[in-house]
Amino acid sequence: MNKAIELKNITKIYNHRVTALDNVSLTVNSGEFIVVMGQSGSGKSTLLQIAGLLDKSTSGTVLINGRDVSKLDKNQLAEVRKNSLGFVFQAFHLNSHLRLYENVMVPMLINEKYKKKSDMQKKAMELIEKVGLTHRVSHYPSELSGGEQQRVAIARALANDPDFILADEPTGNLDSKNELMIFEELKKLSKSGKGLLVVCHNDAVLDFADKVYIMKDGVLEEKNDEKQQS
Ligand SMILES: Nc1ncnc2c1ncn2[C@@H]1O[C@H](COP(=O)(O)OP(=O)(O)OP(=O)(O)O)[C@@H](O)[C@H]1O
Ligand SMILES: [Mg+2]
Repeated sequence: MNKAIELKNITKIYNHRVTALDNVSLTVNSGEFIVVMGQSGSGKSTLLQIAGLLDKSTSGTVLINGRDVSKLDKNQLAEVRKNSLGFVFQAFHLNSHLRLYENVMVPMLINEKYKKKSDMQKKAMELIEKVGLTHRVSHYPSELSGGEQQRVAIARALANDPDFILADEPTGNLDSKNELMIFEELKKLSKSGKGLLVVCHNDAVLDFADKVYIMKDGVLEEKNDEKQQS
């Protein structure tokens, strides 16, 4: 089965008056790097939260790997979130009291797949190697650069081997060199078969994206290929 997040005719109205999303449809297939751009307040984070089952839409349907999530109870939703979705945020959200490998282990603590601490540690080491930080494994987040911290956050998002990674401005706090490094890391993940949904402000992401959408006042449009227009 093809794995996909499918949003169909999603509308989100906050407090009965703010229409943050207006009839948005979007599919993220496995192996795709999908980017959503758009101005501040246009609805990008709202879209990501609904796709990531962190919030509910006012109307419309969300399917994750073919399952209509409105039919799931709280526990089932948590299961889908845990097993299928990984999150990366602008502000990294690492635990400053935990070493790198411990940060990466956090999501494994609630996954019954991991029975032994040694298994978690082994997996955490593998993931840290994947993002090129083996030499820093016992350091604390405050001892790392912003780009390195975000790479740890990516490793942590991979802890439970999700089908999809949802990233909300993952490079918003980074300089352009670190930004490219993070995009390259994310691109590797999509090439390895994960579906990526990335919200970003910066045109630098365009070189990595398979498909780009623009959000305008809650309405999502596919970005036209400028080469075709001219
Ligand atoms: N919890 C909330 N309650 C009420 N209104 C909200 C809430 N969250 C967001 N909004 C409103 O919904 C709209 C979309 O917000 P959203 O956070 O999705 O925008 P965004 O595109 O992510 O912006 P930014 O680029 O600044 O992060 C905005 O008008 C915002 O004020
Ligand atoms: Mg936002």
